[in-house]
Amino acid sequence: MLSGKSFYIQTFGCQMNENDSEHVASLLLKEGAVKASSPEESDIILINTCAVREKSVEKLFSYLGRLKEQKQTRQAVVACLGCVAQLYREKLLRRFPYLDAVVGPAQYEVLPEILRNSIREKAVRTAWKRNWTELPILTEARESTVSAYVTIMEGCNNFCTYCVVPFTRGREKYRPLKAVLKEVEELASRGYKEVQLLGQNVNSYRDPETGADFTEVLKRLAEVKGIEWIRFITSHPKNFTLEMARTMASVGKICHQLHLPLQSGSNRILKLMNRNYTREEYLEKIDWLKSLMPDISLSTDIIVGFPTETEEDFQQTMELLEKIKFTNIFSFRYSPRPYSAASRMKDDVPEETKIERLIRLQNRQKEIQLELNRKLVGKKLRVLCLGPSKKGQLFQGRSEGYQVVNFKSQEDCRGHFVDVKITGCGPYSLHGKVS
Ligand code: SAH
Ligand code: SF4
Ligand code: F3S
Repeated sequence: MLSGKSFYIQTFGCQMNENDSEHVASLLLKEGAVKASSPEESDIILINTCAVREKSVEKLFSYLGRLKEQKQTRQAVVACLGCVAQLYREKLLRRFPYLDAVVGPAQYEVLPEILRNSIREKAVRTAWKRNWTELPILTEARESTVSAYVTIMEGCNNFCTYCVVPFTRGREKYRPLKAVLKEVEELASRGYKEVQLLGQNVNSYRDPETGADFTEVLKRLAEVKGIEWIRFITSHPKNFTLEMARTMASVGKICHQLHLPLQSGSNRILKLMNRNYTREEYLEKIDWLKSLMPDISLSTDIIVGFPTETEEDFQQTMELLEKIKFTNIFSFRYSPRPYSAASRMKDDVPEETKIERLIRLQNRQKEIQLELNRKLVGKKLRVLCLGPSKKGQLFQGRSEGYQVVNFKSQEDCRGHFVDVKITGCGPYSLHGKVS
């Protein structure tokens, strides 16, 4: 019944949502549906949503508002998926009565059935699961032919007080290592060069069948021929062990790159956030990483304006920025989220102060990045070419440190590793030519 129908998926949110959209596309392709290149041309419009910050939800609501006109002029089926679907359920249907279905992340395997029935009845499916569900991905459903996302765990048991994710993705569920290995072997046989392992808390992974831990996963995946680079996101600092750092340093295929969310440099705020580490413990882990891998590229997430954050607390975050010198940061203004413990605290940092702190943080980080990038000018970097660049006649790829590199090449090097001589840079990217 979905045969011949066209579908379009609009994805908001994190890498896991992008990977989920690939899973959903696979389910529909298997039913004979075809991908459309825009929502205007499709019979089925799916919106995969993110609830992590207030702004993410506002953005979605304005998108859904605009989509209403589409729905009125055509007969498209419209379904809301992802974390907002999980969280708001009936509320979404009340505010956007034109939606045909609201389906949370744990219920995607029934999506084809829901879409077949949606002409007749509206559906809301958001029940959580305790266990992992395997939903294989067809290669044609993947966004890249070079680098692939591989989800190894989902959910979170940490309950950071600001965070809604434990309420959208449920408790931690681990995928059997056997299934992970099989997927990565298949990716290698199709010519993929890089895998990015995904999970809200990848480094708390445990194989449900053998009890193997995250370092074991890294070692096993490194044995797969054809896969040259392995990355993973996101690691929680409290679960990041010396053994993991040693594995990263000693297993050649694991990129010397790590995203380790700091959130705040103040011990008082970290405690209120329920992060379960101190700035000293965080710094100790950074020391291990830097001494084992002097070339390591580090990135982080930072929240400014958490309830009660003072200028002094904020200065402690700025200090760590200075000390660690991250290659990249993702920084956000705190916004209260439903069900989270911090939403019961007074959101007492004025909006202007949050904005002003965010600007100071981002401006200083921009200078740091420019300083770091300038040191790479004149050097040769190994780059995995991911495709043509958005800017003109260039190619785009990523360095081992996960920096964006735009470069000139005589040959079409898509899907290949090339040595790029860096000739210039900005704060957010490098450029050069194949040497
Ligand atoms: N599982 C990952 C990603 C969580 S969401 C992790 O643990 O790191 C990504 C980032 O969004 C978080 O690291 C945090 O910096 C930010 N974030 C989460 N909740 C937020 C909130 N209520 N306000 C502002 N930023 C938030
Ligand atoms: Fe959210 Fe914290 Fe879990 Fe990350 S570790 S998903 S920030 S609760
Ligand atoms: Fe957003 Fe859900 Fe990812 S809330 S950050 S899409 S896990």
